[in-house]
Amino acid sequence: MTTTEGGTVQHRDAPWWTDATVYQIYPRSFADGNGDGVGDLAGIRQRLGHLADLGVDVIWLSPIYRSPQADNGYDISDYDDIDPLFGTLDEFDALMGEVHALGMKLVMDLVVNHTSDEHAWFEQARSSRDDPKRDWYIWRDPLPVGPDGRGEGTDAAGTPGAGTFPTAWRSAFSGPAWTLDEATGQYYLHMFASKQPDLNWENPALRQAVYDMMNRWLDRGVDGFRMDVINHIAKDPASLEPGARGFVMGGRIHDHLREMHRYVFASRTDRELITVGEMPGVTVDDAALFTAQDRHELDMVFQFEHVGLDHGPSSKFDNRPFDLVALKRSLGRWQDGLADAGWNSLYLGNHDQPRSLSRFGDDGAHRYESATMLAAVLHLHRGTPYVYQGDEIGMTNAGFTSIEQYRDIESINWYAEEVEAGADPEVLLESLRFRSRDNARTPVQWSGGDAAGFSTGTPWIEVVANHHAVNVEADRASSDRSVFDWYRRLIALRHESPVVAHGRFEMLAPDDDRLYAFTRTLGDEQLLVLANWSGEPYELDPALHPVLRRRSVPEVVLGNVPHGIGSLTLAPWEVRVLRA
Ligand code: NOJ
Repeated sequence: MTTTEGGTVQHRDAPWWTDATVYQIYPRSFADGNGDGVGDLAGIRQRLGHLADLGVDVIWLSPIYRSPQADNGYDISDYDDIDPLFGTLDEFDALMGEVHALGMKLVMDLVVNHTSDEHAWFEQARSSRDDPKRDWYIWRDPLPVGPDGRGEGTDAAGTPGAGTFPTAWRSAFSGPAWTLDEATGQYYLHMFASKQPDLNWENPALRQAVYDMMNRWLDRGVDGFRMDVINHIAKDPASLEPGARGFVMGGRIHDHLREMHRYVFASRTDRELITVGEMPGVTVDDAALFTAQDRHELDMVFQFEHVGLDHGPSSKFDNRPFDLVALKRSLGRWQDGLADAGWNSLYLGNHDQPRSLSRFGDDGAHRYESATMLAAVLHLHRGTPYVYQGDEIGMTNAGFTSIEQYRDIESINWYAEEVEAGADPEVLLESLRFRSRDNARTPVQWSGGDAAGFSTGTPWIEVVANHHAVNVEADRASSDRSVFDWYRRLIALRHESPVVAHGRFEMLAPDDDRLYAFTRTLGDEQLLVLANWSGEPYELDPALHPVLRRRSVPEVVLGNVPHGIGSLTLAPWEVRVLRA
């Protein structure tokens, strides 16, 4: 990694992905090639030119494996096949060949905290308590019921001493995290939907089966994995004891990841692969351990701290106002914490988050300025940036007004549970409008035509009404206000400028609640990033940085409001990247 030798900072040993940018495709919503209303591999193949033009290095595909689609493919029933909804293995091979021919890499989603309840492993496991696969999942007996008819465990609402549920764990998709398998009389654990039973990583045969499956995909030619909720695979045994309140990350997670590395990645030194672990709840200190290169666990993790700052204490749907100072404090701490060992993933949105532009910027009057400002701030941090499909043209939240428009199991279950508990449906819909995952799952807007050019059929989820104005064709045709072109320049800058990939990060004015400013420094090269994170003009204080006190106009590497350059006033949502 970056080292200091004789005063000169070297970065020649840095892994390839330190100057790479990853693009996430959510296949259902990217492009529909066969007109059935659902995105597919044929659609992706037709649009690869868009991604090559953007200049991204890696494409990450959200799950395309065979699946009943209870959670849009994050419930896998066969790890070795492609769901017919998306295409075939032959089409997958063709897609991978085309991606490679265009100089990009292809990363698969790896979902091994759980399978679908329709996976052959689970069907076998639930066939009998004595089946060898029984122990591949997590089973517990119902807790006894006393003479008063009250169980020693919790009830479905989580009340202790009121039912037979083994622990009070709640599923991320509402309701208890345990479902009784009537035929065998035991509960199985599912941290997500009841159709997503959790695998038991304490079982060595299960672990070996997962590694074998990963090896088959790497042998086929894929370039790595994005690992779904990978820190959840190791459950702390104490948190499975009767009465335990919640899930705690188990200590064996590091052992599992190192073992996975040994069985899957260690011998593949001739290939440039990438691993990223999705880790809700991970701390900076944990992440430094997970991503320190000499520990051989993961290349980088997705942390959640910054995307939880606007959640209230009761749930993610308890929306709180955005606080820029808190965001800077958080992201700054992550930059510092992984400065010497480990590596950051950089993201503001994905298929589980609302659209970053609607959440953090102004998706109306200043759509172009705020989309480009957000992109510049993110991409100029130290780490590997992830572009979520549609962000490169400034797509916005869905704007749904009725529960019938939603498709996401998390949103639908939460709404139903809250309505049942007596909440006002209008208030719930307002929360969903901000927070639902469906905000980011609407079809990519390729044109202003029918179904936004996504499909010749009826899309599985409605396209956003603004697709007439916000779409790839219109954006790319714009000579001076193309969000796509801005992303293209940011990605190229990372490729060309070692200071972007490797420079030291320093936050400026951390307590300012409208300015996001920082420097990146490598040897005697420095970039100064000045972003007005507000809809009002911002007066820069010359004391902020020496470059602002010089008489000469500094070199502007990037700017989204050309007329502002040279003045000390940043226009609303303006970002300037200066060579200091
Ligand atoms: C995280 C994925 O990103 C999300 O979409 C999914 O619902 C859960 N993990 C469960 O797999």
